[in-house]
Amino acid sequence: MRRWRSKKWQRRMSLKLDYNYMMSEFLGEGHGIAENDLRGLSEVAHEIHAELSASRESGKIGFFDLPYDTVTAEMVSDYAKRAAKRFENVVILGIGGSCLGPKALHTSLAGGTWANLTAKRKARGNIPRFFFADNVDPDTFAHVLQFAEPKKTLYLVITKSGTTAETMSQFLVVRELLEKKLGRKNVADHLLAITDGQHGRLRNVADREELADFIIPENVGGRFSIFTPVGLLPAALMRIDISELLAGAAFMDSRCKKDDLFSNPAYIAAALLFLANRTREMNINVMMAYSDALYDVTDWFRQLWAESLGKKVSLSGKEVFTGITPVKALGVTDQHSQTQLYMEGPFDKVIIFLAVESFSACVPIPRLYPELSDLHYLGGHTFEKLFTAERLATEYALLEAGRPSMTISLPEINPFTLGQLFYMLEVQTAFAGGLYNINPFDQPGVELGKQLTYGLMGRHGFENMRESFNNRQRKKDKYTA
Ligand code: PA5
Repeated sequence: MRRWRSKKWQRRMSLKLDYNYMMSEFLGEGHGIAENDLRGLSEVAHEIHAELSASRESGKIGFFDLPYDTVTAEMVSDYAKRAAKRFENVVILGIGGSCLGPKALHTSLAGGTWANLTAKRKARGNIPRFFFADNVDPDTFAHVLQFAEPKKTLYLVITKSGTTAETMSQFLVVRELLEKKLGRKNVADHLLAITDGQHGRLRNVADREELADFIIPENVGGRFSIFTPVGLLPAALMRIDISELLAGAAFMDSRCKKDDLFSNPAYIAAALLFLANRTREMNINVMMAYSDALYDVTDWFRQLWAESLGKKVSLSGKEVFTGITPVKALGVTDQHSQTQLYMEGPFDKVIIFLAVESFSACVPIPRLYPELSDLHYLGGHTFEKLFTAERLATEYALLEAGRPSMTISLPEINPFTLGQLFYMLEVQTAFAGGLYNINPFDQPGVELGKQLTYGLMGRHGFENMRESFNNRQRKKDKYTA
């Protein structure tokens, strides 16, 4: 059930985008964006808005309306309530958009890896431990299987296509393990499929073996699926208030429905990054979270921005080779690793800060060593103050060095603010696709690698791929050191 929140509370929890330090007024003509250039995109913004709205209304693009799907949210909550009582562990078998969203939710709203450290389920508030088995690194997967005892574990098999080699091989291993350890009749009890409603091998197997399942709508792509059961079910199992998450997304939708560039945070962010890329050769966007909890959001965004905008052809079939390379960074940690490069390296980056205005914990710094002034000055402050000071100092230092940045501020970390953030970044990506005149919803560039893998793994129908690989130009010893 959706918790009632006053309009005042919602406004107080509203995300803010500050793009002052993107503008030429602050950065100068060389590296900043002129307000007039931004205004110059107003007309095209209206057109892209009209196209996106038409695709939304016709049902071609499904992610826009997910915040209003209360039926799915209720089904997910019901299932999660029952499952959370039974299982000590949840293992997610999924990759890309089928894992990064749940992982970002776990880190931001459910304690992340820290939550897994508490051994006793009761002490964790009956929340299962979560394991994200996205990769097929044999060492990691073996560890996951070892840590999560099958009898006490629910495995969520998440794949939109139902054919992804990594996820399906994990499924095969788990399927056999469950049968061996628990007997055939108990297998279905420990497996849940989240996949397409009609197509794909997992759909077929789930139906045949009568696995519990949830559907990923056909018109929602993997990296836009966080508000489908892909994100909602793990979130509900983590005891995240999914109604608040969806309410946050809906709140952001009300802001992103505006076709005026300057009133729409997603559009203005996309327009600035597009202009910086096209007119100032800023080919890299660093999303730097000043919050450990938000670090995996930067990973989720990395996939969204890279796979959506990195395209060879435009909508009219012309070769364009678009894209901005997304990089993730963590404040303040990466101040001691990356900032030197951001300050003095090539002028090819925009920094997108993720800021949190109010943290839930307070860590006061004691006033010790009064005789040592270069240590004593820290006393009487808090970690929160130091964290914020470091972010503001970095933002200003970058400005002084002529480096553009913008800041997305969250009043605090909660499901409502995270719902806004995910939704805003999705709309920003869809709109940026319009600015580049490419399709942000496909990923043809990953096909060749997938098909070659099928060939190498002996999949029927991909013999030509194996042959092409076997006939490749041989590497030379003289280029091996
Ligand atoms: O955004 C996408 O569509 C992809 O990144 C997918 O999420 C990823 O390839 C995994 O695909 P699937 O969910 O079909 O297993």
